[in-house]
Amino acid sequence: MSGEIILTCKDLTLGYENITLAEGVSFTVSEGEYWCITGENGTGKTTLMKTILGLTKPLAGNVEWNGTAAGTGIGYLPQQTDVQRDFPASVYEVVLSGCQGRLGMRPFYNRSDRDLALLNMKRMGIDDISKRCYRELSGGQQQRALLARALCATGKVLVLDEPVAALDPKATEEMYELITSLNKEDGITIIMVTHDPEAPSRYATHELRFGQEVTTHVI
Ligand SMILES: Nc1ncnc2c1ncn2[C@@H]1O[C@H](COP(=O)(O)OP(=O)(O)OP(=O)(O)O)[C@@H](O)[C@H]1O
Ligand SMILES: [Mg+2]
Repeated sequence: MSGEIILTCKDLTLGYENITLAEGVSFTVSEGEYWCITGENGTGKTTLMKTILGLTKPLAGNVEWNGTAAGTGIGYLPQQTDVQRDFPASVYEVVLSGCQGRLGMRPFYNRSDRDLALLNMKRMGIDDISKRCYRELSGGQQQRALLARALCATGKVLVLDEPVAALDPKATEEMYELITSLNKEDGITIIMVTHDPEAPSRYATHELRFGQEVTTHVI
C-alpha cells in the first residue's frame, strides 16, 4: 500500500537549450513505491533524474517535492563515468561525503556524521574495506560504496541512475537484493534507471518508459 504523495511532476518538457527530449511528462510518486525508469540510450533518463533533483531546469512544467526540498534529503547515485571510477579517496571518505547536506553551517563532519557513514557501510557490507582506495575496488564494491553514500543523505528517497551497469550477474543480483530490502524493510522510496528488461516486473511497483512518448505503467 502506498503512502503520501512525495513527488509530483506536471507536464514536464525535458531537454537543454538546443534539444527537446520529451514533452508532457507527468507522474506522481508516493511514499514506499519503487519506480523503474527505462528506455534506450540517449532518450533522457538521466536528464529526468537531474531534473527531479533540481540539477537541471525543465524547459517547461514543474517538479514538486512534498515535505522534502528538491536536491536535499534525497539520496542520489549518479550514473558512473570512467573518471568517477578512478576517484582517489578511501571508501570511508566517499561514503562520508554523502553527509554533506547535513553540514549546514558547520565546517567539519561531526561524530554523528561519522557514525552514520559507518552504519551505512555496515548496512551495505563494506565496513571491512572502509580504508581501501575507492578506485581499486571491484565494480560491485564501488556501487555499494555509492549506495552507502546515497543513504547518508536520506532515509526516505533514493534516486539511482543505473546502479547495476557494468556489474556481473552475481553482483547485479546482490545489488538488486540490497535495493529491494531498502524498499521493503526500510520503506525507502526508489526511483531507479535501468536497462535490465526484467527489472520492472521483478522489483518495481511502477515503470516510466521513454519511447516515442513517455508512458507510465502500474505493475
Ligand atoms: N548538459 C547537456 N547539454 C546538452 N545536451 C545534453 C546535456 N546532457 C545530456 N545531453 C543530451 O541529452 C540527450 C539525453 O541524455 P541523457 O543522459 O538524459 O540520456 P539517457 O537516457 O540517460 O541515456 P543513457 O541510457 O545512455 O544513459 C543526449 O543526446 C545527450 O547528449
Ligand atoms: Mg543515463
